[in-house]
Amino acid sequence: MLLRPLTTADRPLLREATLANMNWSGPRYGVADIDEAPELSHYFTGFPGDSDFGFAALVDGAEAGVAWAVLLPASDPGYGFVDAETPELSLTTFQPYRGRGVGTALLDALVQEARRRGLPALSLSVEDANPARRLYERTGFEVVGRNGGSDTMLLHLR
Ligand SMILES: CC(C)(COP(=O)(O)OP(=O)(O)OC[C@H]1O[C@@H](n2cnc3c(N)ncnc32)[C@H](O)[C@@H]1OP(=O)(O)O)[C@@H](O)C(=O)NCCC(=O)NCCS
Repeated sequence: MLLRPLTTADRPLLREATLANMNWSGPRYGVADIDEAPELSHYFTGFPGDSDFGFAALVDGAEAGVAWAVLLPASDPGYGFVDAETPELSLTTFQPYRGRGVGTALLDALVQEARRRGLPALSLSVEDANPARRLYERTGFEVVGRNGGSDTMLLHLR
């Protein structure tokens, strides 16, 4: 597996990943739902903003997954918004690459890059019953809030 940094050209990939994240428990949303909801499309339409970053994982040259962090303002918060200094991460491994360590490698790379940038913390939102929670807990994320049927989790980096 190889990791490469995400660029503006990866917006379609992040759109696909946002759709996969919303459909983690089965098909609930279509691509039009993502495009038409600003609270979902802001995860990819402006990527990478000045403070945004992320990685794609390549397996045999194919994009197997992505992890990315966006810094959204309080006026346009993400589901895992904590404050305007804390980027929110998103993580997706595409089918059929799940369960092979791709998500773990991407999450580790994102956390390492956040540390390198001197960021204070990373946040995320995870819906109840999503098994991704175990991965986040193992990495050191802790629940700091609640938003609808999801927990907001935070990883302190300093
Ligand atoms: C969550 C996700 C990113 C994990 O990626 P992955 O590459 O499968 O992860 P890894 O192989 O490194 O394993 C990490 C965990 O995912 C679990 N996992 C493995 N295969 C899986 C699968 N097919 N589906 C869901 N989770 C799986 C593993 O059980 C492991 O957790 P555990 O060891 O505590 O049981 C991936 O399953 C995914 O994209 N799911 C759908 C979108 C999603 O829920 N994103 C997170 C939103 S908060």
